[in-house]
Amino acid sequence: MLLSGRGSNFRAIAEAELPIDIVAVISNRPQAAGLAWARERGIQAVALDHTEHADRAAFDALLADEIERHCPDLVVLAGYMRILSPGFIARFEGRLLNIHPSLLPMFPGLKTHERALAEGVKIHGCTVHFVTADLDHGPIVIQAAVPVRGDDTPDTLAARVLAQEHRIYPQAVRWFAEGRLAIRDGRVNLKDNSTSQSVLATGA
Ligand code: GRF
Repeated sequence: MLLSGRGSNFRAIAEAELPIDIVAVISNRPQAAGLAWARERGIQAVALDHTEHADRAAFDALLADEIERHCPDLVVLAGYMRILSPGFIARFEGRLLNIHPSLLPMFPGLKTHERALAEGVKIHGCTVHFVTADLDHGPIVIQAAVPVRGDDTPDTLAARVLAQEHRIYPQAVRWFAEGRLAIRDGRVNLKDNSTSQSVLATGA
């Protein structure tokens, strides 16, 4: 589990009673609240401060070595707020998940809620996807949509989306743990599909 701050997606996954062991939580920011929460629960928590390493590729190589020390089957980016170098992504491709607060491929990058409001979209949401070298464009596992209201601010919209993030990220991790996600031609197929891969939140 990689994070940089609050760690609410990490907490949602940790509390979802999934068939997984969270072997480590690693943050590039030593003060991240998510690290403290992990420590309180006896989950191994590691701080690797990126500000002590000038070179991105060198830092990412250290980070990758630290991750591999814990032998995870899956690496979950849960609010990890740094762009990963191509070398890092290549090492974990196919077992690297991210959550992004928009309905990709709309609004890749930062400030998604502000941009959604500025565009006047009526539906917004979040996406769990596999990470590839193409930023915020990897194969989509699951999405959730929420209505955009006329009086929304970036904060009210972010809160509505975040509630859905906490539903779909544990679901995606469960599917991965159950071996149900297959990537073919850049798309994710859900094996034994009886569950929809998108969730429309009503009245959220
Ligand atoms: C979430 O909105 C996530 O989609 C984005 O960063 C935020 C992290 O929140 N990538 P948290 O640290 O999980 O609370």
